[in-house]
Amino acid sequence: MEKLMIHTNSKNYPIYIGEVTDVLSVTISQFQPSSVFIFSDETVARLHLDTLRKSLPTENVYHHIVPSGEGSKSFDMYYQCQTAALEAGLDRHSLIIAFGGGMIGDLAGFVAATYMRGIRFIQVPTTLLAHDSAVGGKVAINHPLGKNMIGAFYQPEAVIYHLPFLQTLSEKEWRSGLGEVIKHGYISGELFLRWLEENVHTFEDLHDNTLLHMIKEGIAVKANIVAQDEKETGVRAYLNFGHTLGHAIEAEVGYGKMTHGDAVAIGMVFAIQVSEYMYQKSLNIERLTALLGRFDYPTIADVPVRKLIDRMRQDKKSYDGDIHMVLMKNVGEMELVKIPEDVIESQLKHFVKGWEK
Ligand SMILES: NC(=O)c1ccc[n+]([C@@H]2O[C@H](COP(=O)([O-])OP(=O)(O)OC[C@H]3O[C@@H](n4cnc5c(N)ncnc54)[C@H](O)[C@@H]3O)[C@@H](O)[C@H]2O)c1
Ligand SMILES: [Zn+2]
Repeated sequence: MEKLMIHTNSKNYPIYIGEVTDVLSVTISQFQPSSVFIFSDETVARLHLDTLRKSLPTENVYHHIVPSGEGSKSFDMYYQCQTAALEAGLDRHSLIIAFGGGMIGDLAGFVAATYMRGIRFIQVPTTLLAHDSAVGGKVAINHPLGKNMIGAFYQPEAVIYHLPFLQTLSEKEWRSGLGEVIKHGYISGELFLRWLEENVHTFEDLHDNTLLHMIKEGIAVKANIVAQDEKETGVRAYLNFGHTLGHAIEAEVGYGKMTHGDAVAIGMVFAIQVSEYMYQKSLNIERLTALLGRFDYPTIADVPVRKLIDRMRQDKKSYDGDIHMVLMKNVGEMELVKIPEDVIESQLKHFVKGWEK
């Protein structure tokens, strides 16, 4: 088992990683909640809810299950979750458990942030991607006009990452999460990136100590940045490396059609290409494509350049109509830079030509 502490201005809290269902039991009894309410999605509940329940008290424990997939991060589902919480009589001393991947973490976290002006919650992540989403306190639902547009910064009381839950993930979901791990490698610097290159060759490597170490290091990168900048006024923006184009692709292709990590992988390659142009230096783009190549990331998204540019302008990092992207000066050295639109356009055209090869 590994333990990390997250330090933010609003709260300090522990993250436990490994075989940690017993830690969950202890943590909950320490909190002495008046009741416990689990939110989960259909897939996770079918596979793992029984196991989770065994680590919880037997009385005053309720659950509400929503359909799997990004579509559940909606106003409608948020409303249904609040209704279920009210009907179960949750009070200010109750505790919410977000049991699932990033979708449930964001949805249940936002329910916790707003139910009776905020009650305690614990993240129990079940995807690799959630090493990113469960840490740092960003919770949100989607608006038809934009992803994650309605939300809050609201930290959990603890993150309890029981790795055996991850063993039922499909290869597609492992790859999606690995996209964010590779991103954390590039943000943190040579040490973690080289460790990934030397230790993670195939999906088969994602077990035991390799998985434990990888998740711990990925979370440490995020924790370090969140500790400096909880509400994204500065360095937290670096976590969006690869996301400006990534989000645009995801939105254009349609959520659920391409995973977040696949889109971010394509976005990181583009971000390095733009960085090479802006800084007029070689940044070894082949190093990233070689790493992504091990896991069959898609390199193509059949989307018109104009539509991608329009989407990128709507990105939360953009302001005054200008596109801002996280660029890489070197591995481990990021910068948020305003990119002239003609540069975006010519770089995207060049990039898309690469897809057609
Ligand atoms: N808050 C943040 O800081 C942050 C950061 C990154 C991403 N996100 C959000 O996270 C979401 C993506 O997260 P995700 O990829 O975990 O999505 P997800 O929660 O939708 O999970 C992906 C799929 O895997 C299934 N699944 C989950 N756990 C499983 C398990 N153990 N075994 C088998 N199947 C399982 C789910 O049912 C779902 O179909 C997006 O909504 C994104 O906006 C938030
Ligand atoms: Zn992401």
